[in-house]
Amino acid sequence: MTAIEGTDLGYEYPDGTVGLDGVDVTVDRGERVALLGANGAGKSTLLQVLGGLVDPDDGTRRYFGEAVAPEAVRERVSVLTQDPADYLFNPTVREDMAYGPAQLDVPVAEADARVDRLAARLDLTDLLEKPPFRLSGGEQRRAALASALTVEPDVLLLDEPVSNVDAANRTAVLELLAELHDRGVALVVSTPDTELLPHVADRVYLLNRDGTVAASGPTREILTDCQLLADCGLAAPQVVELFDRAGHERVPLTVAEAVERLE
Ligand SMILES: Nc1ncnc2c1ncn2[C@@H]1O[C@H](COP(=O)(O)OP(=O)(O)O)[C@@H](O)[C@H]1O
Ligand SMILES: [Mg+2]
Repeated sequence: MTAIEGTDLGYEYPDGTVGLDGVDVTVDRGERVALLGANGAGKSTLLQVLGGLVDPDDGTRRYFGEAVAPEAVRERVSVLTQDPADYLFNPTVREDMAYGPAQLDVPVAEADARVDRLAARLDLTDLLEKPPFRLSGGEQRRAALASALTVEPDVLLLDEPVSNVDAANRTAVLELLAELHDRGVALVVSTPDTELLPHVADRVYLLNRDGTVAASGPTREILTDCQLLADCGLAAPQVVELFDRAGHERVPLTVAEAVERLE
């Protein structure tokens, strides 16, 4: 069953820049999908259109099989933009995290329980009573992610969730995404990083640099097509290049897979 279905999506910025042009995207329930593309390809635009933060100029969106406005599925579709300030505007982190549930009339006791649970999960417990602007950049990103999750969405769209994030925080975010996936939450991750891709997506939409889709398919298919990636301003993961150049038949996508092959 589909969670989000965008058909022939088009978007033009006020200055005439084409953000999206004729894009078709489907995300099934519980699926892990990536929007892959170079800087400026249109990933953020597409993510915000799919997530309902921005209305397209052309095309249609359907949510959970129905042609409803994004407002109708606000409690089921959550978006994490790249700017933590989009989520952090209350006097304390706790209030920011409780904001979404309050908007959706979730009972206070239930909202509090969600806040405490997610804070513990994302190492935010000691920061809950702090003003969000006093947090470090990495802490703000974790707090923003926590705030996007307290509504307990069925679909979570994340815009470059681990760009400029240190290794420890990256691992924490990836573990949380794996946990959400296990619980059946559909994930849509935008990234220009082909190394990250095997860890966050089973299927990929690869964008050209002009807001159109160059190709879509299983992660393995896209990541082992070095020419296609190069045409889109990207490079294959290093292990792919290594095994490809060394003439191996079955090319691994990750270091862990490469180790298996070599053993
Ligand atoms: N507010 C804006 N006004 C005009 N052009 C914009 C604006 N935001 C983004 N763009 C342009 O739209 C295109 C797609 O941008 P974006 O979706 O942010 O790409 P990505 O997230 O893949 O880096 C780029 O050419 C970018 O310069
Ligand atoms: Mg972007």
